[in-house]
Formats: sequence, C-alpha cells, structure tokens
Amino acid sequence: MLLLFVLLLGLGLGFYWYKHPKNKIQAVPHNFQWHTEKPLPIRPFVNKRNFNPSIGIKNISDQPENWLLIENTYLSNITIRRKHLEANPHQTMQIPDNERTVAALCEFYNLVTGFLTARYPKLFLHGWTGKLHNEITNDDIPFKADPSNPREMCNALGRTIEEDFLILMKDNPDNKEEEYILRAAVNAFPAGFDPSKSYNKPISAIHGPVPQYASRLAFSMHKFFNNLKQGDIWVRHNWSIQTHNQHFNLDSNHGRPGQEVKKIGFDEIDFEQGCFLRVERQAFLRLPNSGAIVMTVRTYLTPMPQIKKEGLGPELCRAIDSLPEDLAYYKKRDAWGEAVKQYLMK
Ligand code: HEM
Repeated sequence: MLLLFVLLLGLGLGFYWYKHPKNKIQAVPHNFQWHTEKPLPIRPFVNKRNFNPSIGIKNISDQPENWLLIENTYLSNITIRRKHLEANPHQTMQIPDNERTVAALCEFYNLVTGFLTARYPKLFLHGWTGKLHNEITNDDIPFKADPSNPREMCNALGRTIEEDFLILMKDNPDNKEEEYILRAAVNAFPAGFDPSKSYNKPISAIHGPVPQYASRLAFSMHKFFNNLKQGDIWVRHNWSIQTHNQHFNLDSNHGRPGQEVKKIGFDEIDFEQGCFLRVERQAFLRLPNSGAIVMTVRTYLTPMPQIKKEGLGPELCRAIDSLPEDLAYYKKRDAWGEAVKQYLMK
C-alpha cells in the first residue's frame, strides 16, 4: 500500500514537473547575493574581425535560466526605469489595444513572473495573496496577468525587470512573406531613438535608419524570425560609446542623415564619470500560445576607466578605427572617436 502511494506520488510530481515549464528553470545557488553579482562583462568588440552590421546571434537554449538577470545594478537601474516610465509614459510604453496582442502580453507577463519565482526564489515570492513580492524593492505586483488592464501589466513589468521588452506579431501568422510588426513594448532605456516612432511598424521600417540594413540584415533577420522555434532563446549584442551617463536617450546617441556631427574635445569629456561603453544584451524567444516573438533588451553602461583597467584600451581603439564609414557616422564617431582613443591609450 505504502509502495503504491509512493509510486503515485512520484508519478504525480513527475507530471507536475512536466506540465510546469518554470520547473525547467534552475534556481540560483542558495547563497546567491544580488548586490555582489557583477554585471556580465560583455565586450562585443574583442577579437571581432568584421565591423559591418551583422545578425551575430547565439543560441542559449541550454541555459534558459540566463534569460533575465539580476545583478548588482538592479536597485539603481530599477529606480531610474521607474522615473522614466512615470515621466515619459508615451515614449516608454506601447500599450496593446487589441485582444490578440493583449493575450500575448498576458502570456509574456505570466512567463516573467513564473521565471522570477523559479530563478530567484528568495527575491521574488509568490504569496497566498496572489501577489509577486519583490524583496529588493519591497513592493508587490500581481502574480497573474490581468487582460483587463494592459497598461498596468506593462507598468508592472517595466518596474520589475531591468530588461526592456518588445512584442512582435504578424497579422496573418501563416504568411511567410509578411513581416513581424511591433505591437507592445516597454522601452525605458532607448539607446538614441524615440521608441514611440516604432509603434505598430514592421521591422524593416524600424531599421530604416540603420546603415546596411537592406543589404546585410533584412533577409537574414526575416528568415531568423520566421524560423524562431518555441523553446529556443537566442542572444546578440550591440555596442556603442556615449559621452553622458544617461540610460534614456531619445536622439543624441546617433548621427542622422543631414546632421552635423561636432567633434568633442578631450577636455570636454569627463572620462571618470561621463563616458561609457554602452552594450545591449538582446534576447529573442517565441511565446508558445500566441506565437508572438519577444525581444528583451538589457542595457549595460560600463565606465571607460573599467575598459582601460581590463587592458582593453588598444582593442577598443582598433574597433573604433575599424568601423565602416556609414556605421561610424551612425555611432557618431566623429564626435567622440579621437578623444576616447586618446584616453584609452594614455
Ligand atoms: C536579429 C535581430 C536584430 C538584428 C540583427 C538587429 C540589428 C540592429 C542593428 C545592427 C542596429 C544598429 C545599432 C547599432 O549598431 O548601434 C539596430 C538598431 C535598432 N534596432 Fe535592431 N536588430 C534586431 C532586432 C530588432 C527588433 C526585433 C527590434 C524591435 C522591433 C529592433 C529595433 C531596433 C531599433 C529601434 C534600432 C535603432 C534604430 C534607430 O537608430 O532609429 N531590432 N538593430
């Protein structure tokens, strides 16, 4: 009798394990301390041979627990995010307004809250009140998605994870020719563009200003998104340099056609506190029920002295010099290039 009970319990637990994919997410070690967790040292320019834009994507499906990260920047970045979400709700949030996109947002919401409790069980607690309690900020958001309030879902996600997110869908999912269209987003840390100009636009229109998009990226990106399988997670990185400490930038990070890029003098830059390598860790996955594609974007601002300390000065100088002219203009190399190289080689 006891044996039968143990067998049934085992089967029951096994079934639960199988049905609840969050169990696939391995929790951080029990002695994990968020405030001592160093930011991932992503340095995409190191050993890079070709500096033309490329899809450069890597599959990390064997480590799904590394999708959304909690590092020692959490509290400071979440505080900045909250400020921008409040001050610029229109530019930072694209609130979905149709049933299909709201359903996709709900799916994403539940995935995130499930992920956080599975990966960081001591930091995000799912209590009996139906709330997700955040031990770091000491506040609560609903654990489950509420389709009647998409604005609140965007707001809650934006205030809880450091990653921005974008949800893309096709109007006719079976049409291979059709492009994915941006339908919902939280973009608290735009890297030099106005997110609201991308709302409801297809990927090609959003990448209009990106040099070599049509010749080098459009075809492989279209294929990548069509073939993106549920269960897979892909990651890619972007890098740039900025001479200010702002995460939220609507325009000044990029050179736009017709714009004059003015050279900044060495003495005009505060290299200790006002010059950063800006890296985006972008992750892509497909939501199983809605079939929507999600892109999450984690932004790293690394002070220039840190790059120097790592001995990467010469390598970053090589990268700056190797940018093709069109991309160099887009990244505003004429403004900061000479001064940053001078600092790195000093
Ligand atoms: C495999 C997928 C993707 C690739 C390879 C890619 C590639 C790029 C590249 C090379 C840039 C120029 C950035 C730089 O070098 O500083 C860029 C910019 C940008 N991308 Fe993507 N991207 C991808 C997916 C997406 C998606 C899904 C979205 C959202 C809908 C998106 C939105 C943007 C935006 C808003 C910009 C800035 C455009 C501007 O300057 O106005 N990207 N992308």
